[in-house]
Amino acid sequence: MAIKHMVASVLAAAGLHGPAAAADAPDDLIDRGAYLARIMLCGDCHSPRGPEGEIDETRALGGASIGFEVPGLGVFFPPNLTPDAETGLGSWSDAEILTALRTGERPDGRLLAPIMPWQFFSVLNEADGTALVAYLRSLPSVSHRVPVPTGAGERPLGPYLAVIAPE
Ligand code: HEC
Repeated sequence: MAIKHMVASVLAAAGLHGPAAAADAPDDLIDRGAYLARIMLCGDCHSPRGPEGEIDETRALGGASIGFEVPGLGVFFPPNLTPDAETGLGSWSDAEILTALRTGERPDGRLLAPIMPWQFFSVLNEADGTALVAYLRSLPSVSHRVPVPTGAGERPLGPYLAVIAPE
């Protein structure tokens, strides 16, 4: 088990998402949450990246450096999910995190853009949701505020991935 974890973190540090050895789903709540976060790709979107595009594991889930354009809707940056009170989820309750994950509704009532795959996460059961929240709460706090979303036609406030139709 320990070796499997080491292999997984070395591959992750190298930015490789290739066919690493399949992990058995761990029983421990936080380990299970980490396992779910990995296969549900939370870190792929919500972690900052280094100059070569590799995930910065020292600031895992500390908020993206690259946003996503949703055509017709705007540009959205995956926020910081670490427990930082100012820039992360520190001030959110467990229930608020679960609601955002399963229904896309933030505590302020805004519906998250569908690039955050909440429509797929709506089937998340209570046990797995609890494990994911426990894992997010266990992360080292990272102080990093991502740019606010901008609407279609507005100037995005950071680099972003876009959908461009070929000529
Ligand atoms: C395909 C990229 C992607 C994946 C995968 C993804 N997210 Fe997101 N997430 C986003 C984006 C983009 C936003 C911001 C959307 C917006 O502002 O409307 C977001 C928003 C959120 C929010 C709301 C935070 C806030 O401050 O408003 C939470 C909580 C969240 N994601 C948790 C998760 C978790 C946990 C996972 C994995 C189980 C996950 N996300 C997977 C892209 C993603």
